[in-house]
Amino acid sequence: MTDVLRAHAEQQHADELAALAAADDRPKPPNWKLSPWAVATYVLGGEAPDGTPITPKYLGSRRLVEVAIATLATDRALLLLGVPGTAKTWLSEHLAAAISGDSTQLVQGTSGTAEEAIRYGWNYARLLAEGPSPKALVASPVLRAMETGGIARIEELTRIPSDVQDALITILSEKTLPIPELDSEVQALAGFNVIATANDRDRGVNDLSAALKRRFNVVVLPLPDDAESEVEIVRLRVEQLGRSLQLPAGAENVDEIRRVVTVFRELRDGVTADGRTKIKSPSGTLSTAEAISVMTNGIALATHFGDGVVRADDVAAGLHGAVVKDPVQDRIVWQEYLETVVRERKPWSDLYRACRELV
Ligand SMILES: Nc1ncnc2c1ncn2[C@@H]1O[C@H](COP(=O)(O)OP(=O)(O)OP(=O)(O)O)[C@@H](O)[C@H]1O
Ligand SMILES: [Mg+2]
Repeated sequence: MTDVLRAHAEQQHADELAALAAADDRPKPPNWKLSPWAVATYVLGGEAPDGTPITPKYLGSRRLVEVAIATLATDRALLLLGVPGTAKTWLSEHLAAAISGDSTQLVQGTSGTAEEAIRYGWNYARLLAEGPSPKALVASPVLRAMETGGIARIEELTRIPSDVQDALITILSEKTLPIPELDSEVQALAGFNVIATANDRDRGVNDLSAALKRRFNVVVLPLPDDAESEVEIVRLRVEQLGRSLQLPAGAENVDEIRRVVTVFRELRDGVTADGRTKIKSPSGTLSTAEAISVMTNGIALATHFGDGVVRADDVAAGLHGAVVKDPVQDRIVWQEYLETVVRERKPWSDLYRACRELV
């Protein structure tokens, strides 16, 4: 287990989940491993009744997380919507881990996703040898979740072609999947539900049909409200990622994180933090997730090629890469930002120099 590059949420936080389960005497929906209250504590952090500290996974509105959890206890499915990097995938994994102890029943939505990925397919060797039988059937993650009363996750639902999306309608409304080839059906066990994620930047690829939309409760995950909460998210995640990549994370990195987050927010908002100077926004999203990777890269550079402390030099390349997605337009935007904003800030002169060298 120690050699796995990325353990599933339920493996990584097995001790927290066990501590919460051990003392959980609140009512649980059928087949849930934890009560909704304990799921919320697992996601938002806190303390288990026996004193085990629970690390926060999602930093943001408690109410929003409660609404998401409550939805999963009803007969409606959950759709997490938001711009890229707002932790849709992240939250869906942790919810599935806490509710059914298994976050792996996952369908990755693409334009090539076929109905078999949502319903079932066949093992053709077996099918030819033995004819249609339950053994020749290859269950999709959704079918497996129905059989076990667990949570199925569908990533990037709106990238899936609409006729394939429609396969979900019967499943979500009837909670049954007919298998005409075997003259049978699978009825979902209590506890079965679906968490889908969709990116509202890519909308228009394949919109959700109205019939499908009606079967989902939509929870919109927002960008962090203010700079301090974004700094806190980046700090928390950089520290966790650094630990799993065996990079030392020093508290001294917070100032650099604050600077990266400020650059990201100002460019995203099109105005400087003091509200005085208007600036142009680049084409990329500059999400919190990207700020996390700029910092993680910086730490890797500083650890392996520097003295371990992240400095302007170590984040400059990452910043440049995150901002300049379009080599012409974004380069102009970035240059303008460097000259009008970064250059004017005295304590930022190291950052100005480091970035200036790259454009
Ligand atoms: N509010 C938050 N709390 C905790 N972590 C966050 C938050 N916002 C972003 N992150 C971090 O950002 C990273 C990216 O999140 P994730 O991949 O889930 O985004 P997404 O919304 O699914 O994006 P995409 O639309 O690109 O798929 C994760 O490491 C996650 O921990
Ligand atoms: Mg995602």
